[in-house]
Amino acid sequence: MAALNGTVENGQPEKKGAPQVPRPIKNLEIQYTKIFINNEWHESKSGKKFPTYSPSRSEKICDVEEGDKPDVDKAVEAAKKAFQRGSLWRQMDATSRGRLLHKLADLIERDRVVLATLETMDTGKPFLQAFFIDLEGCIKTLRYYAGWADKIQGKTIPVDENFVCFTRHEPVGVCGAITPWNFPLLMLIWKMAPALCCGNTLVVKPAEQTPLSSLYLGSLVKEAGFPPGVVNIVPGYGPTAGAAISTHPDVDKIAFTGSTEVGKLIKEAASKSNLKRVTLELGGKNPCIVCADADLDLAVDCAHQGVFFNQGQCCTAASRVFVEEQVYPEFVKRSVEYAKKRLVGDPFDAKTDQGPQIDQKQFNKILELIESGKKEGAKLECGGLAIGDRGLFIKPTVFSEVTDNMRIAKEEIFGPVQPIMKFKNLEEVIQRANNSEYGLTAAVFTKNLDRALTLASALQSGTVWVNCYTALYAQAPFGGFKMSGNGRELGEYALAEYTEVKTVTIKLSQKTH
Ligand code: NAI
Ligand code: MG
Repeated sequence: MAALNGTVENGQPEKKGAPQVPRPIKNLEIQYTKIFINNEWHESKSGKKFPTYSPSRSEKICDVEEGDKPDVDKAVEAAKKAFQRGSLWRQMDATSRGRLLHKLADLIERDRVVLATLETMDTGKPFLQAFFIDLEGCIKTLRYYAGWADKIQGKTIPVDENFVCFTRHEPVGVCGAITPWNFPLLMLIWKMAPALCCGNTLVVKPAEQTPLSSLYLGSLVKEAGFPPGVVNIVPGYGPTAGAAISTHPDVDKIAFTGSTEVGKLIKEAASKSNLKRVTLELGGKNPCIVCADADLDLAVDCAHQGVFFNQGQCCTAASRVFVEEQVYPEFVKRSVEYAKKRLVGDPFDAKTDQGPQIDQKQFNKILELIESGKKEGAKLECGGLAIGDRGLFIKPTVFSEVTDNMRIAKEEIFGPVQPIMKFKNLEEVIQRANNSEYGLTAAVFTKNLDRALTLASALQSGTVWVNCYTALYAQAPFGGFKMSGNGRELGEYALAEYTEVKTVTIKLSQKTH
């Protein structure tokens, strides 16, 4: 267990005086592959299992129990029971709920190396990024919402005549969380932390490509001391286990991160079943606007990280870079230099910047979009092909001379491909940036305050970053305009998505004012 706690491999300095670099666990034994219901591990009712693969080696890691409707039914029943009036969870003081969330954060900190290793095995993302970005985000988000647990309060409202009126913010009930493979644990914690802090119970369906970190988290939920049934985790496929959650009449709310296509299906299923509440975090085709007066070093660096981070598999990817014409050639030149320096390879190697794409389907989709860019007349500056014959690696790719009607300028690529466009003036770029069915994030690079604020108000997106990129904080809301989604995750705003407002009105015999 010592190695699993990260105390043996982790934190050994490279040499005396060097900063501590966490190291992944070699040959980590996978402990949790079953369905987690009522704080116990179950086999699937059908007896079926499904494989999860390592995208860097193109080989199977292990089999996982394959949950389907009967397993989801059992998980929902457990979550419903845990939410019933008088249950351990409902009776628990809000301060104790907060303490449990802190305890879960403590356990994630203790097992951070294990979780980061699992995340890298399953997703192929560089281990140091899993450790420093994904896991850091998980811990901070849990602690942020732990602090909210005993601060969820309504208002007293001065209504007409002789009534006292106040509101209570009550938990919604059984919440379904359907999560993606790009940030498996982080996207789960973004849902789990506010849901639990408000007193809800959960049924989780992790992405079929990446179930391992979510299942390990199940063991930590139990160890932290959450009552049985508060968190249930059913690995399985989308159209079976996922759909069983979205159509279930006893699921009161769904939080989903993934494709716009599936987001629509979930909303439809919600309206056809019980009108469950739905929050959606979907795709993006995010404009990144670089004005001629910008700090070019900063803009090139941020635009590069913004699109290539996580193998390009981010809903926030800077996948439409608009550069003002005066600095366009210089921006393209420096962006190509950056892309060429990007180290692609084994995600467990500390030097690696970019690992493999998640699966064959995504890999094929990206290569097909790259081909479309070439055919439609964009200039391929570098990359443009796969690397090696093992694993799903793609060369960092930069296209210049991209125009708005090309597929690479319109469709979500979700891969290491940077399309760079040119613009002439502010009004034009605002119109072009907003000409998308998506509206998740936007970024602006300029030293001119007037331009920055004009763009920040004119761009139709849930987030605008000025002179920075992927600046995400547990305290600040995140979500999309238009087809990028509904509702907000993170920050105080997310609490509204996990609570119902109840109005209590009491008649008095005398006027209150
Ligand atoms: P997806 O939307 O199919 O997968 C996300 C989750 O939804 C998974 O847990 C999956 O099992 C579940 N799911 C699939 N079908 C479902 C259904 N009928 N009912 C309920 N749940 C269902 O995404 P996929 O196919 O893996 O990727 C396709 C594209 O989606 C990507 O190329 C990318 O453009 C986008 N995407 C966006 C993400 C984001 O962060 N917003 C994350 C993952 C994918
Ligand atoms: Mg799919």
